[in-house]
Amino acid sequence: MPLALVTGATGGIGLVISGLLAERKHDLVLVARRAAELERIAESLRTTHGITVHTIASDLGTVGAAESLADALAARGLAVDVLVNNAGIGQYGRYVETDAAQEAQMVQLNVVALTTLTKRLLPGMVQRRRGRVLNVASTAAFFPGPLMAVYYATKAYVLSLSEALSEETAGTGVTVTALCPGPTATGFQAESGMQTSRLLKLSSMLPVEEVARQGVLGMLAGRRVVVPGVMNKGMVAMRRLVPTALQLKLVKIAQG
Ligand SMILES: NC(=O)c1ccc[n+]([C@@H]2O[C@H](COP(=O)([O-])OP(=O)(O)OC[C@H]3O[C@@H](n4cnc5c(N)ncnc54)[C@H](OP(=O)(O)O)[C@@H]3O)[C@@H](O)[C@H]2O)c1
Repeated sequence: MPLALVTGATGGIGLVISGLLAERKHDLVLVARRAAELERIAESLRTTHGITVHTIASDLGTVGAAESLADALAARGLAVDVLVNNAGIGQYGRYVETDAAQEAQMVQLNVVALTTLTKRLLPGMVQRRRGRVLNVASTAAFFPGPLMAVYYATKAYVLSLSEALSEETAGTGVTVTALCPGPTATGFQAESGMQTSRLLKLSSMLPVEEVARQGVLGMLAGRRVVVPGVMNKGMVAMRRLVPTALQLKLVKIAQG
C-alpha cells in the first residue's frame, strides 16, 4: 500500500484528505500538535479502513520541527509516497499592529516546514520514480493581501514553489500539485481572527469535503494547480484583467 503523510490532520481540510486517502487504501502518517486527537482519528481510520496509521505529534511552527519529523520517519524506516503539506495558519490585521511572534510562527509553518518536508521527502520519491506532493496554498496566493499581508505572501510562496517543482519533476514519475481553496468552512477563520472580515460575508464558502475531494483527485491526476469552485476560478482568472493597484484596493475592501 502507498504511504501518505498529511500535516494538519486533526481538523479541517487535512482531516478530510486523510479520510479520502484512507478510503483509497493508503497507509497514513498523521501529523499535528494534538497527540490525543491524532491517536483518536488514527484508531477510527484503522478500524474503518483496515490500514496502518502512524501518528507523530509535532508543532511544525517551531524551528527545527520539520527536520525532526523527517528524521523520525527515517528512523522508523517509513518511505513516503504521498506528501500532503496542509498545515497552515493565518493572521488577520494591519501589519503595523499584528503580533510579530505569531507571524514568525506562521512563516515557519506555512513556508519553512513545507519547504523542509518537501526537501527531505521529494528526492526519495524521484529515486523510486513514484510519488505525489500536494501543497495547500490558497486563492490568496494569486493576490497581494492587505490586512492579511504575511499570510497572502506565504501562500504566494507555496504556489510559486509548487509550480516550479512541478516542472522540475516532469517525467520523473513524481508530480507536485498546489491546491488553492477560497474561503472554506473550517476552524481556520476563528484561528486567524478574521471573523469580522467582509470576505467571509461576501463569499459563499465551499464545504470542506468538496475542497478536499478536488485536492485529492487533482493530486492523483498529477494536476499542477487546483482551484476548487466556479467563483474562485473566476476570481483567479479575472486578476489578469485587473491592474495591481485596483486588486490592492479590492482585496483591502473585501478583507476590511
Ligand atoms: N479554511 C480556509 O478558508 C482556507 C482557505 C484557503 C487555504 N486554506 C489553507 O488550508 C490549510 C488547512 O487549513 P484548514 O482550514 O483546514 O485549517 P484548520 O481547520 O484550522 O486546521 C488546521 C490544521 O493544522 C494543524 N496545525 C495548526 N498549527 C499547527 C502547527 N504549528 N504544527 C502542526 N500542525 C498544526 C491543526 O491541528 P493541531 O491544532 O492539532 O495542531 C489542524 O489539524 C492551511 O494551509 C490554510 O492556509 C484554508
